[in-house]
Amino acid sequence: MKQFIIINGPNLNLLGKREPEIYGSETFNDYLEGLRSKFKNVQIDYFQSNIEGELINKLQEVGFSYDGILLNAAAYTHTSIGIGDAVKAISTPVVEVHISNTFAREDFRHQSYISPNAKGVILGFGLKSYDLAIQSLLIL
Ligand code: DQA
Repeated sequence: MKQFIIINGPNLNLLGKREPEIYGSETFNDYLEGLRSKFKNVQIDYFQSNIEGELINKLQEVGFSYDGILLNAAAYTHTSIGIGDAVKAISTPVVEVHISNTFAREDFRHQSYISPNAKGVILGFGLKSYDLAIQSLLIL
């Protein structure tokens, strides 16, 4: 069975109540339940942290053994050289995921330290971006 992990960064623990006009009103746990039942032949682990170093630790921990990583580093996408370096350092393919279309938003969201070292980027499809990212990892 393929082993994937979703790694979510800061404030994504608030999905469902955080700016629902941008991020929707579903909690991530509810969405994840549906995702796991859709992809029954894939193990989908989940990790969320608001702390940059914890995200780096998790990338290092899974980044040489898992089959794929879905990384939504949230605001750290636009600021963190450390997370970008971690993505470069590991061998597991990383798909960068965003719920919103960051290019349709403020200029500071157009910069990503993850994209240069990601396998690919999926953004703008709401929570369905994670579903599409799993599909993209399955065709690698
Ligand atoms: C986000 C986009 C980021 O710019 C923002 O800081 C987030 C969420 C998204 O999934 O759309 O927290 O990564």
